[in-house]
Amino acid sequence: MSGCPFHASASVLPPSAAGPSSGGAADELDFLAELHDGANLARRRAAYGAALAAGRPAPFSAEELRHAARVGWRNHARCIGRLHWRGLDVRDHRHLDDADQIAASLREHLALAQNDGAVRPVMTVFAPPETAGGPVPRMINHQLCAYAGHRAADGAVRGDPKNVALTERALALGWNPPAERGRFDLLPWIIAGRDGRERLFPLPAGLVREVPLRHPDLPWFEELGLRWYAVPVIADMVFRAAGTDFPCAPFNGWYMGTEIGARNLADPDRYDQLPVIAEKLGLDRRRNRALWKDRALVELNVAVLHSFEREGVKIVDHHAASAEFMKFYERERSAGREVSARWDWIVPPLSPATTEVYHTPMREIARSPDFLTRAEVAAVK
Ligand code: ARG
Repeated sequence: MSGCPFHASASVLPPSAAGPSSGGAADELDFLAELHDGANLARRRAAYGAALAAGRPAPFSAEELRHAARVGWRNHARCIGRLHWRGLDVRDHRHLDDADQIAASLREHLALAQNDGAVRPVMTVFAPPETAGGPVPRMINHQLCAYAGHRAADGAVRGDPKNVALTERALALGWNPPAERGRFDLLPWIIAGRDGRERLFPLPAGLVREVPLRHPDLPWFEELGLRWYAVPVIADMVFRAAGTDFPCAPFNGWYMGTEIGARNLADPDRYDQLPVIAEKLGLDRRRNRALWKDRALVELNVAVLHSFEREGVKIVDHHAASAEFMKFYERERSAGREVSARWDWIVPPLSPATTEVYHTPMREIARSPDFLTRAEVAAVK
């Protein structure tokens, strides 16, 4: 499964580029030079150096934090949507380190990001640890929006199998699921506070925008009862900038259709909808070469894009996203920066070779600032 973005550990193409390589002279304070120059730059570098030497978090001004976050997006090797990096809205909430305050701020984050369908890229940065490795509040949820995976006694899962463990954790903390457990029950937030204790924060009704799925020409599609939430807000990645790790810094862009249509609703270990769609299409599932999976996949993706558009919720299709990435790639080259990218993450999972990114060699280069998974942070400790 080395080609699967969720399980792969290194780039698959070109083989010579597997694994991140050092960016050479690049250092983690270089982003400051995009904001300051002359004596001012020297002064800020010295202030950062002194704080880091003393084991304190870097002394970002709000403007420096905003720029570091944008550069972190620009640097992130797994993202196809980076053309828009300058448009990231950064909320400086470093003064908040209490679970109740964080939950309130994240409710605002979600509303700002959803923006009535005109999805805005937003990041909210909460307190860094006082000392490296010290306890600091963090989100247990992978994303702010997620559907429960209810495991029945016979082992069958209703909902999103990806979230079975999180669902059980929420239940153990006292979550009251809907009386009749559904396939699309939104999970509450779990926030671990300074004291390390996990607390449950139920979502107010109506906070999460969702899109019911319909197909432009297949009337039965609606009866499948499929839906997805409007905005993916990643809540458990670490934002690393200027030698400082921010363990709670949720961020979002808008969806690319294939994330929902070719993975979340299609993967056999997720919602596994291809067999039922193929059945409705009247395809012969006994014959691989009838290409029933492929045909079902296309109709599912048509439905995702159509439904988001119809509901006025911003989404990008993989052809447009590929073209935007190529534009980003060229712009970065003109700015004298080589783009760090992972081919196995950038190439869309639907009709890959029809997109220009498929035909573009890429390599991953270690960069800072960047966004890291907790596993990546733990691995280098
Ligand atoms: N692939 C993830 C999902 O389907 C979301 C990852 C971030 N995606 C994005 N468009 N910013 O929920």
